[in-house]
Amino acid sequence: MSAEQGITRAWLQTVLDAYLRRERGAGADADGKPPTIDDYDISALDAHDSMLSDLLAIRVRFSGGGGGASREARLVAKLLPQDPVSRLTVQESGFDRREIGVYRRLLPDARAFQRRCLGAPLPPAAPLCYHAEHKPDCESILVLEDLRAAGFRVADFSECLTEERARAALTQAARLHATTFAMRVRDGVDLLAKYEFLLRPQQAAALYDHFLGRGLPHLVDFLKGLQRPELAGLVARLKTYVTDNTALFHGLVTAKSHLSAVTHSDFWCNNLLFAEPAGSAAAADEDAGARCRLIDWQLAQVSTPTNDVALLLLSSLSAEVRRARTAALLRHYWAELTATAGRFGVSLETEYEYSLERLEQDFRRSRKLAVLLCAGSVDVTQGCRRREERLIALLTDMHAEGVF
Ligand SMILES: Nc1ncnc2c1ncn2[C@@H]1O[C@H](COP(=O)(O)OP(=O)(O)O)[C@@H](O)[C@H]1O
Ligand SMILES: [Mg+2]
Repeated sequence: MSAEQGITRAWLQTVLDAYLRRERGAGADADGKPPTIDDYDISALDAHDSMLSDLLAIRVRFSGGGGGASREARLVAKLLPQDPVSRLTVQESGFDRREIGVYRRLLPDARAFQRRCLGAPLPPAAPLCYHAEHKPDCESILVLEDLRAAGFRVADFSECLTEERARAALTQAARLHATTFAMRVRDGVDLLAKYEFLLRPQQAAALYDHFLGRGLPHLVDFLKGLQRPELAGLVARLKTYVTDNTALFHGLVTAKSHLSAVTHSDFWCNNLLFAEPAGSAAAADEDAGARCRLIDWQLAQVSTPTNDVALLLLSSLSAEVRRARTAALLRHYWAELTATAGRFGVSLETEYEYSLERLEQDFRRSRKLAVLLCAGSVDVTQGCRRREERLIALLTDMHAEGVF
């Protein structure tokens, strides 16, 4: 049975009913009537080329369920891929289980913590979740709000992020990091123990090793094929990474920082959606973070927050913006991180002796992992001249700076 066939009128009714009841608050009219599904249609999500999931767009028109007139919900269902090899990869690595755990438990807990400490939650980091169900060895399904219906669009990898968008993304990252750090130090939450679905450092190291074991030889061949003498040193260096590197990655993912917190860990522009800023009158008091949403939480883990910052800046900025604006973007991240932590009563500087200088040190170390992840993802650049040149500029800069 294809996943699509599993999405029936009755199933949609159950999912919407449970969602609407949760929205109205626990215990509210337990005997209230479920919504009536007037009409629905399902289509493949356009422009989706990932091997690691099947995505469907669902439009459903319904009435009742606590509201009167007919309304429309636009949803995205993320399912296991149909291809058996990709499917096994996702299941064996626990990608589906992890992302579902994030939507079901981690993000709601983080919002509840914000609500308790700040009086109201911060603007959401992720789309609304209608339904998340993990079933070992068979269908897993995640049903999210279709962010396109709220005016969000995924950033185009060829275009790179503008500095303004990078700031909005870093605002969201800083809030995720500061909130989960505060949950740890204020409420004593052991993040890895409580959220057992998060990627363990050992698993992350093995996964990166496996990923780069395939990606790097591909990159080396590609660079050699260009026959550019100036790239010879770079190629020689990359070749030394093409062996079993689990120990190296283990060192990078467990690198000690004062500040471990939940990191998204796949923080690049294809996993970010942005809304256009409101008109100039409204723009002044609009929250910058609210214009960005994070999706694809399959690699969420507890690590050094600068891992997210480094991956974003290395993967998703043009060489010009990266060279000219990295320092300013780090300062922006730092300001948002300390301000958010401060709102939870956590002073990173006095209580944890963290400073912008230490953040910059962590960032420099995080670049070692980020540059390898960018190098291993050469397949996402190939065939597009601008993307290829951007990757070459990144590798050349990082090699010249001794990052790898
Ligand atoms: N909630 C959503 N709203 C709108 N588009 C989405 C949503 N979730 C995913 N997408 C689109 O689908 C693409 C792939 O989704 P993602 O969760 O990143 O899957 P994968 O794990 O296969 O990369 C995204 O880049 C985005 O274009
Ligand atoms: Mg993705």
